[in-house]
Amino acid sequence: MTSQNKQEKTFLAVKPDGVHRGLVGKIVSRFEKKGFKLVAMKFIQAPEELLYQHYRDLKDKSFFSGLVKYMASGPVVAMVWEGENVVKTARFMLGETDPKKSLPGSIRGDFAIQVGRNIIHGSDSVESANKEINLWFRAEELVSWHKIDQSMIYED
Ligand code: RTP
Ligand code: MG
Repeated sequence: MTSQNKQEKTFLAVKPDGVHRGLVGKIVSRFEKKGFKLVAMKFIQAPEELLYQHYRDLKDKSFFSGLVKYMASGPVVAMVWEGENVVKTARFMLGETDPKKSLPGSIRGDFAIQVGRNIIHGSDSVESANKEINLWFRAEELVSWHKIDQSMIYED
């Protein structure tokens, strides 16, 4: 299988704390430097209804209302990134859900302290990624383009 047919997409979002703290550029830069391809990006104050949908699997958790309030407390940078194994690799790059357990070098390990202020979201599976991309973006907002350095990032 060549890298061309192993390509997948993930949904990432810099959360309001990441935006307020001026970390958007640093975070985007990590995925750019890794070699992944940006496919869509928007700066948005997420409506609560969207956040309820986004985190619907956690609706029975004690922290759910606080989570939605946090995610609605300011704008987020919603993004779609593409690449080989990008869903899993992006989760490694994020670190653990709880920054206390995240290794230095990961985004949460480097920039966050508490689980309720962990600055970035990343899809946890290809299936979740597809759902989340459809929730946050219209099909025409995803840009189909050829990134010219791909033969320097993928050998096949
Ligand atoms: P995310 O969806 O935001 O990428 O985070 P995740 O997969 O690493 O973790 P998940 O279980 O999906 O939890 C979603 C977000 O809820 C907040 N949270 N708070 N207070 C708590 O115990 C607690 N647990 C989770 C975090 O902001 C987490 O990222
Ligand atoms: Mg999650």
